[in-house]
Amino acid sequence: MAQYDVIVIGAGPGGYVAAIRCAQLGLKTACVEGRETLGGTCLNVGCIPSKALLHATHQLHEAEHNFATMGLKGKSPSVDWNQMKAYKQDVVDSNTKGIEFLFKKNKIDWLKGWGSIPEAGKVKVGDEVHEAKNIIVASGSVPSSLPGLTIDNEAGVIVDSTGALDLPKVPKKMIVVGAGVIGLEMGSVYARLGAEVTVVEFLDQITPGMDGEVQKTLQKLLKKQGMTFILGAAVQGAEATKTKAKLTYKLKKDDSEHTLDADVVLVATGRRAFTDGLGLKELGVEMTERGVVKTDAHWATSVKGVYAIGDAVAGPMLAHKAEDEGMAVAEVIAGKAGHVNYDVIPGVIYTHPEVASVGKTEEQLKEEGRAYKVGKFSFMGNARAKAVFAGDGFVKLIVDKDTDRVLGAHIIGPAAGDLIHEVCVTMEYGGSAEDLALTCHAHPTFSEAVREAALACGDGPIHM
Ligand code: NAI
Repeated sequence: MAQYDVIVIGAGPGGYVAAIRCAQLGLKTACVEGRETLGGTCLNVGCIPSKALLHATHQLHEAEHNFATMGLKGKSPSVDWNQMKAYKQDVVDSNTKGIEFLFKKNKIDWLKGWGSIPEAGKVKVGDEVHEAKNIIVASGSVPSSLPGLTIDNEAGVIVDSTGALDLPKVPKKMIVVGAGVIGLEMGSVYARLGAEVTVVEFLDQITPGMDGEVQKTLQKLLKKQGMTFILGAAVQGAEATKTKAKLTYKLKKDDSEHTLDADVVLVATGRRAFTDGLGLKELGVEMTERGVVKTDAHWATSVKGVYAIGDAVAGPMLAHKAEDEGMAVAEVIAGKAGHVNYDVIPGVIYTHPEVASVGKTEEQLKEEGRAYKVGKFSFMGNARAKAVFAGDGFVKLIVDKDTDRVLGAHIIGPAAGDLIHEVCVTMEYGGSAEDLALTCHAHPTFSEAVREAALACGDGPIHM
């Protein structure tokens, strides 16, 4: 029986990062993973493969829409779907192998198989029981469906995000249930590949919780790209034949029932924590009312020596939030001061244009009754964006009315997912719009739009 300082259960972004940091801090570490490859949902069937498909299809969009304008003449490329999927798989493989390399480099044992915790201090994998002074549950999440929608990724007609990454062919008609992150990213992929994409969403707006102006702008731009939106619609269920599906929904405004036909229905209505088979209930680990593992501020569960992080605990189900918790919990176990600032966790949607946000929205501040100022700058005033057909969108900076301290930012536009980080750093330092505005930004870059939004909080932007 092997003895460890730490055994991490799950090798997704939360688990593998926790394992690496534990090892770096001198703790004898193992990580249990039942998949064939490391990296969890994110690397295998989530963030990474979807980014490969988004990249490939964005290139197609550029070829179809912008090449001729730039003097690049010739027929637009045709799509070899199997080759595109092979490219996506190569991207996945090189990333998952990268984690395997990092495990070897840091002398972390990969315990292959599905783990459970028969008692505190013990982790069972297959028939073997390993001892660990500390156990970190980083078991992630799985897609959650709706009643009346039976997911069958093998059949490929009613699918979840995993099935949507690997459809046998590009559908002619696709219905996306849920206008959240997954629905819009995967909907964009198939719309660019020529599918007729209809998004059916329960709420009256897309991307719940995001800044209202960003929601409206994104919906308008995606509509321009050919996506159709049916909002305020409660999906009742779907029937699948071998090759088609019929979806039924009710419009909330008048309770009228409607049906839609499609070749594929993608169900993207959220995810739930995955803790099945770990034996947490028998162990006495307390769960919250929302079905995630309950932890204290240092990721300790109700059972001594058992910690939990990532999608298995409360908070946004984001890879980078899990990574931060992974590093922090390792530091706590090693006797250091691990910390995560939950007020500064960016969120990104990798549509085109990208959407990124951090901190408070105007809607939240109004509800809190806090006085704020908004500085906004359109990418139409940004020379670099205009040069590359990326003038749609804006940067919106929200600051405290009296102190000028940055409270949040909401960006829709080119490279929004990268631009957001200068605002994150500013917020981490308790910085102001003036701090951002006084920082020299290279020209011509998209990031000048962030500075202009900061200038808009003061004496005004230059290029608007
Ligand atoms: P989500 O929570 O982002 O969106 C689900 C949507 O489904 C919501 O708009 C909701 O109102 C709608 N919905 C729920 N029930 C419905 C019904 N009966 N009829 C119609 N619409 C209904 O969930 P999503 O997109 O499945 O993503 C799951 C998780 O994965 C999220 O936490 C997300 O943050 C994360 N993720 C993050 C990515 C990123 O950071 N770029 C990429 C992909 C996933």
